[in-house]
Amino acid sequence: MNISQLKKEFVKIYGGDESDIRVFASPGRVNLIGEHTDYNGGYVFPAALKMNTTVLARKRDDDIIRLKATDLENIVEADIKKLDSYKGIKWGDYQIGVMYILSEAGYTIVGADLLYHDTVPHGSGLSSSAANEVSTALCFATLSNEKNGKNEKVDMIEMAKISQKAEREYAGVNCGIMDQFASSMGKENHAIFLDCKTLDFSLVPLDLGNKKIVISNTNKKHALGSSKYNERRAECEKGLEILKSAMPEKNFLGEISKEEFDTHKHLITDEVILKRVTHVIEEDDRVLRAVDALKCGDIETFGKLMNSSHDSLRDNYEVSCFELDTMVDEARKIKGVIGSRMTGAGFGGCTVSIVDGASVDEYIEKVGKNYEEKTGIKPDFYVTETGDGGKEIL
Ligand code: GLA
Repeated sequence: MNISQLKKEFVKIYGGDESDIRVFASPGRVNLIGEHTDYNGGYVFPAALKMNTTVLARKRDDDIIRLKATDLENIVEADIKKLDSYKGIKWGDYQIGVMYILSEAGYTIVGADLLYHDTVPHGSGLSSSAANEVSTALCFATLSNEKNGKNEKVDMIEMAKISQKAEREYAGVNCGIMDQFASSMGKENHAIFLDCKTLDFSLVPLDLGNKKIVISNTNKKHALGSSKYNERRAECEKGLEILKSAMPEKNFLGEISKEEFDTHKHLITDEVILKRVTHVIEEDDRVLRAVDALKCGDIETFGKLMNSSHDSLRDNYEVSCFELDTMVDEARKIKGVIGSRMTGAGFGGCTVSIVDGASVDEYIEKVGKNYEEKTGIKPDFYVTETGDGGKEIL
C-alpha cells in the first residue's frame, strides 16, 4: 500500500479527513558484517533498507492511544496515564513500550490514533521490531516537541537509544544498539560503520560497481527472545571477566585487540567460552578490514571476510542453523557470488550475499531450487535497495 492508499485506509478506520494525518517511516536493516559484536562494544556495518514501518498518526484531544495495523483485525487501546501497564500484551507492546520510555525521558505523550504498515518481513532478522520502534519514537517525539512549542529537530541518535531501551526493558529482549541505530541513522546507498562502544559512526558509500546485495530469506522464523541470545551474552561476559584478570582496564571485549587476545587467551580454559570470545575478537577485526576493503573498492576481499564471518558464526558462536548454512552453501556454489553469510541474530532469518549483477537471476533460480529441495521450505529473495533512516514523510 502506498501513502495515499494508507491515508484512505486510515480515514476508513478512524473517520475524519486526510488533512491532519501525519506520516512517519523508519526502515529495517541488513547487517553486512559485524555480528554479535554490538553488545560487546565492538564494530558493526549495517545498511538501512527500503523495507520499513510506516505509521500514520492523528492527535486526539483526550488521553487515549488507539493502535491498528494494516495486517491486523483489532484496534488496541491504551491510556497514556498507564503506559507502564501494557507489558506482554499480544500486539502493541513494542509501540507502547517506546511511548513509556519516551515519557520517562521527559517527552509529553499525547493521545493519538495510529495506523501501522510494515513491509519488513517479521521474524526474518531484518529488524522489523527496530523499524516499528524508531517510527513510533520519531512520531511521538515530534508530537511532543510541537505540543511543548519546541522547534528543534528530533535527535535521531536519542531515538535509537530510547527504542533500544524500550526493547530491553519493556519487550524484554536484551538487544544491542545496532538495529535501532541503523533504522534511525541510515542513508540511501551507504552503510554505517559504527563503534558501538562510543556510538561514533561514519557513513560509507556502498560503491559495489556491478555487484548487488541479495538478501535470501530462509523463511525459518528466528526467535530473538529465545534464551540463546541471552546465553551468548552471558558467555561473552564470562570471557571478559577472565581476560580482565590480565587486563583490568578493559570493560568490553570490543576494547581488546587481536594481539592482546592472542597473548592472554590461554587464561580461558573453558572451550565453549574460548570459541565465543574468539568469534567476537576476530569479527571485530574483520569489520575493520572489510570497511577498509570497501573504501578501496576491493569487493573481493569484502566478500571473503563475509564468508569467514559466517563460518565463525556457525562454528565458534554457534548461532547458525541448517537452513542458514544450506542457503549459504548453495549461494557459494554460484560463480558470481563474491561472499555470503547469515545476517542478524541467527537461528533462522536471512542471509546476505554480494552477487555479480549478471548472476543474480541464476542465483535466485538455482539457490531457490536447491534450498527448497534440501529444506522443504520455499525461500524469498530481495535484491536489496538501501534507504534512509527514520523521517517524517511530508
Ligand atoms: C539482533 C540484535 C542486535 C545484534 C544482532 C546480532 O539483531 O537486535 O543488537 O546483537 O542481533 O549481531
